[in-house]
Amino acid sequence: MALVPMRVLLDHAAENNYGVAAFNVNNMEQIQAIMAAAQETNSPVIVQASRGARSYTNDAYLRHLMLAAAELHPQLPIAMHQDHGNSPETCQSAIEQGFTSVMMDGSLSVDGKTPSTFEYNVEVTKKVVDMAHAKGVTVEGELGCLGGIEDGHGAGMTGAEALKHLTDPDQAAEFVAKTGVDALAVAIGTSHGAYKFTRKPTGDVLVMTVIERIHKKLPNTHLVMHGSSSVPQELLQIIREYGGEMKETYGVPVEEIQRGIKHGVRKINVDTDNRLAMTGAIRKVFATKKGEFDPRHYLGPARDAMKQVCIDRMVAFGQAGQAGKIKPKTCKEMVAFYTKGK
Ligand code: G3H
Ligand code: 13P
Ligand code: ZN
Repeated sequence: MALVPMRVLLDHAAENNYGVAAFNVNNMEQIQAIMAAAQETNSPVIVQASRGARSYTNDAYLRHLMLAAAELHPQLPIAMHQDHGNSPETCQSAIEQGFTSVMMDGSLSVDGKTPSTFEYNVEVTKKVVDMAHAKGVTVEGELGCLGGIEDGHGAGMTGAEALKHLTDPDQAAEFVAKTGVDALAVAIGTSHGAYKFTRKPTGDVLVMTVIERIHKKLPNTHLVMHGSSSVPQELLQIIREYGGEMKETYGVPVEEIQRGIKHGVRKINVDTDNRLAMTGAIRKVFATKKGEFDPRHYLGPARDAMKQVCIDRMVAFGQAGQAGKIKPKTCKEMVAFYTKGK
């Protein structure tokens, strides 16, 4: 099936009380892992690419890989999303590349690091909403700042600093009213990457009550959790066992994400868990089969390991079994939907 606007998937998820994982991709094996997991579990799919992923794949490889995914899995609805767009220009170029959804992350300035002002955020996000909705493309905005220093999409704040930049529920309501975004990423104490929490998080550092308060104010806005890898201890252990170095660290427990799903979270961003799974599998091959040099013999196990993480999340978030129930819409049909709302 042709790629569908992400809004179609999130609306269905909201009507049926589940969440959809959005997995980051950079290469063929990662796309194959997600699609195999979705095929096995009959799940709708959100694939997302960062700016780094787009330059790594030179856009064209990524575009054609996504077309291959749609061709090989005609019964699965798939949305292709720009993760952390840093400017309206980035979002526009994603739309030109066939993405059916874009994130304008105006919580940070164009450098993707410096926290911006509310006014700037509203201005750039509204600009993207006008441009994207005219083409039926979904828009995610972000209010509040994540912590994290690992990936260039974060203000580089420590956990304690990030806690001062949590999303304010009143401001969230104003932001959505002023911009018209379909989905809102919220800051609740998470950060990108493997090093999120130094202990299993409790409510003082992973502030799930912020989600509950925002959902009460914005019951019709799809909420998005970034930095939502769970950093499973068993994946860290495999990496350590086969020569890797991973310090003690904790992620966002799946039960907390399930709690978020009960309160309006419809999109859950997961990248790090898949990176950990692939790295562990590759390290294991290199450590146990020292003569191995056929990339298929380590990228294949890496793909299998990522597929298992995707299956686990698809089942846990409730999207498993839902793909066949979704009535797909085209971007053109979404244009009519947005025009009617005006
Ligand atoms: O937003 C963070 C994602 O994990 C993507 O990271 O910029 O290294 O591709 P990246
Ligand atoms: P993780 O680093 O927790 O996987 O978060 C990914 C993310 O939020 C991408 O936007
Ligand atoms: Zn993110």
